[in-house]
Amino acid sequence: MTDRPAQTRLNRRNFLRLTAAAGVVAVGGYALAEFAPWLDYAGQADAIWQPDAGTATMPANLTTLVHYATLAANGHNAQPWRFALGADSIEIRPDSARRLPVVDPQDRELWISLGCALENLLLAARARGYAADITYPDAADVIRVHLTADAPQGSPLFDAIPRRQNTRTAYDGQPVKTADLDRVLATPLEPGVTLRPITAAGDMAQVQEYVRQGNLQQYGDRAFLEELIGWLRFNQREALAFYDGLYSRCSGNPEAPRWLGQMFVASGKPEQQADADAAKLSGSAGALVIAAGADTRSAWVRTGQVYERLALQMTALGIKSAFVNQPIEVAALRGQFGSALGLAAAQPQLLLRFGYAPDLPRSLRRPVAQVLV
Ligand SMILES: Cc1cc2nc3c(=O)[nH]c(=O)nc-3n(C[C@H](O)[C@H](O)[C@H](O)COP(=O)(O)O)c2cc1C
Repeated sequence: MTDRPAQTRLNRRNFLRLTAAAGVVAVGGYALAEFAPWLDYAGQADAIWQPDAGTATMPANLTTLVHYATLAANGHNAQPWRFALGADSIEIRPDSARRLPVVDPQDRELWISLGCALENLLLAARARGYAADITYPDAADVIRVHLTADAPQGSPLFDAIPRRQNTRTAYDGQPVKTADLDRVLATPLEPGVTLRPITAAGDMAQVQEYVRQGNLQQYGDRAFLEELIGWLRFNQREALAFYDGLYSRCSGNPEAPRWLGQMFVASGKPEQQADADAAKLSGSAGALVIAAGADTRSAWVRTGQVYERLALQMTALGIKSAFVNQPIEVAALRGQFGSALGLAAAQPQLLLRFGYAPDLPRSLRRPVAQVLV
């Protein structure tokens, strides 16, 4: 009789302990399932960005060239490309399933992305012993590269391909050495494409204000946020399920389960994004605007080539860069932004900031087999 209440207390305590243990197991299991720590993101990224060994025969070389092409910068890392191999040619075709209709309704950035891929492909072709003849997409919706055997010509830009990245973190506020900036600005351009460097404090403040306006418009637009969220990969499990998109750690952000990351992005105040980018511009050594004389597919492809060349030249010199395209992506700001920069008839196409910062984790790419037609 006397020990019954004690037994009941014990049982209740045991029950509470059991419930707590079950809770810990459930939370632990959920965390394991969400973050899958056994997945090796860094190992996968290393394998993707590994330089390819040279090979002797044409068909093997063509897939090597495509691999280098896929390492190019591209909007939202949507990888909007398909490659068709011929006996001695490669076609780069747009992948319409990977368009970004909200941020890029004209496919302007899609064709710029194909231009970035083209530039990597051409550098790799030269390094592997091919001369290339390019047909730009004026008449057809495709870029054609015809290859003939030539003496191999490596280059510092080709060597920099596996190290280039968009480094979206804050930079250290140091100016870029004049000799290095001069080398960047001496990068060969393409016909019709111009480059406008911005380093003076007053000009940087003006750029900062346009980026602020662009951020307020984009991050206040639900359709923009929904499209962006669709391409965000909030943790390595998601990143490794798709091998595309924007993985949190590549932007300097922590891992999160999708529901939490999505909630965070969707409920963020546009002003927060505007302030964050303003601070990043303040800590950058300068900015570059790439403009083109026309808004045609060929002009966009050539813009992409020039961007990729500049980014590789900066990589070779240890300079980091990241895009702040907001005032060009928001149609209502683009014309004003161009006039404010004194670009006259040229259309601003890309805006990037540059400076010094440590590396971020590498972004992923789909394997070559998945992008061949
Ligand atoms: C045309 C174009 C537009 C881009 N726009 C932005 C942008 O507005 N903001 C940004 O952070 N990155 C932008 N990027 C960078 C891509 O997100 C980046 O290239 C992609 O995620 C792959 O990462 P990686 O360049 O580090 O390899 C853009 C890239 C291209 C080619």
